[in-house]
Amino acid sequence: MFAVTVVMLILNWKLALITLTILPILVYATKLFQVAIKATFQEVRNQVANLNGFVQERVTGMKIVQLFNRESIEYENFKEINDKHKKAHVKTIWYYSVFFPIAEILSSIGIGLIVWFGGGQAIQNSGISVGMIMGFIQFAQMLFRPLRQIADKFNQLQMGIVAGERVFKVIDTESSIAKSGIVKADKLKGDISFKEVRFSYIKGEEVLKGISLDVKSGQTIAIVGATGAGKSTIINLINRFYEIDSGTISVDGVSVNEYDLENLRNQVAIVLQDVFLFSDSILNNITLKNENISLKEVEEAAKQIGIHDFIMTLPNGYHYNVKERGAMLSSGQRQLIAFLRAYVSKPSILILDEATSSVDAYAEQMIQFATETITKNRTSIVIAHRLATIKQADKIIVMDKGFIVEEGSHLELLEKENGYYKNLYDKQFSLDKAS
Ligand SMILES: Nc1ncnc2c1ncn2[C@@H]1O[C@H](COP(=O)(O)OP(=O)(O)OP(=O)(O)O)[C@@H](O)[C@H]1O
Ligand SMILES: [Mg+2]
Repeated sequence: MFAVTVVMLILNWKLALITLTILPILVYATKLFQVAIKATFQEVRNQVANLNGFVQERVTGMKIVQLFNRESIEYENFKEINDKHKKAHVKTIWYYSVFFPIAEILSSIGIGLIVWFGGGQAIQNSGISVGMIMGFIQFAQMLFRPLRQIADKFNQLQMGIVAGERVFKVIDTESSIAKSGIVKADKLKGDISFKEVRFSYIKGEEVLKGISLDVKSGQTIAIVGATGAGKSTIINLINRFYEIDSGTISVDGVSVNEYDLENLRNQVAIVLQDVFLFSDSILNNITLKNENISLKEVEEAAKQIGIHDFIMTLPNGYHYNVKERGAMLSSGQRQLIAFLRAYVSKPSILILDEATSSVDAYAEQMIQFATETITKNRTSIVIAHRLATIKQADKIIVMDKGFIVEEGSHLELLEKENGYYKNLYDKQFSLDKAS
């Protein structure tokens, strides 16, 4: 474009300037177009995200959709979201369909000006030949065509930028956990202490309201309490998934904030309330592809906690693929795999958030045995929903609405007339009492 402009100016500066008058208008139109199209690109990306999110959720939760006869309703919802998605696309195309004709008209006007001015000059015989006019018409096209192409390429770039911005927004999210801790311990003893810990997920809505508790190395404590009391929240804090509002949490006398995060998490194994398994073999789900853990070790550990025989009944044994989220296993079986995963990592501290879902008597027995084995001689915190687990604990902590309301051994707590634990026990475990 630069070379064409220079050649035009040398050949005939008057005709060149006339051709170039169109250029600012064309550049301005391109600019307007780009601003407008960027907004519509953003809209398209948002709608694509909505659509993907919707489809992904409905496919994962297909059972619920079918169980509750929501197929036609969800289909209507899908149509609505898809319609918005389509409209966003149509809008971008609409802008294209306006811009390109405008650019076309402007270049034609440019050529018209050349013919009009140049033709007039040629008639008056003032130094412009018909050849020169033909040449300028060619030049004008050589000038405007690349400009349109640049505008088009720029749009593709912009579409990429808009999509990229969304990805970077996620990547650039600052972790709210300060990673300034440097203390590294080869092997933690496992003394855990909470002092006046206050914590809220959402500002102003305290979930833990001054929790103080001590777990001595090797002890097993059970935390019990109503749903929503804040039990699972406690385990999120030991591992530093969140920063606490006030108070201190220390392990072996050192605040968890001062530990190197990786070092701390390496030594604390957690079995979460909702077990997550990857679409992979049982072996890989247990070792999480840690090459230092051999199949032999895993088998040995499985024998110790009493689930080796169960795994061997599966086709392919340890190489059985459990599919997405462990769909090929029952919920009790998934828990057992999660136990083994925690056990083979040889943690100094074990935290177990027992699933509330009930399982059959056989699995119950296996889970009980596994729990006892993996908590033996190891600092353990068990958020307990099973009476058998609670009875085994060295100490029971009873929580309600973010407070610790009682603590002591099973028998001590039962002696409290009208105590919270006694009530809970009478209501929840009366059926188990006989056993
Ligand atoms: N990620 C979160 N964001 C905001 N609030 C949360 C979050 N997780 C839990 N809460 C809130 O914190 C409170 C305590 O939740 P928590 O999961 O600790 O209960 P819980 O005692 O483990 O209950 P359950 O026995 O049902 O497992 C609840 O009122 C819940 O609404
Ligand atoms: Mg919980």
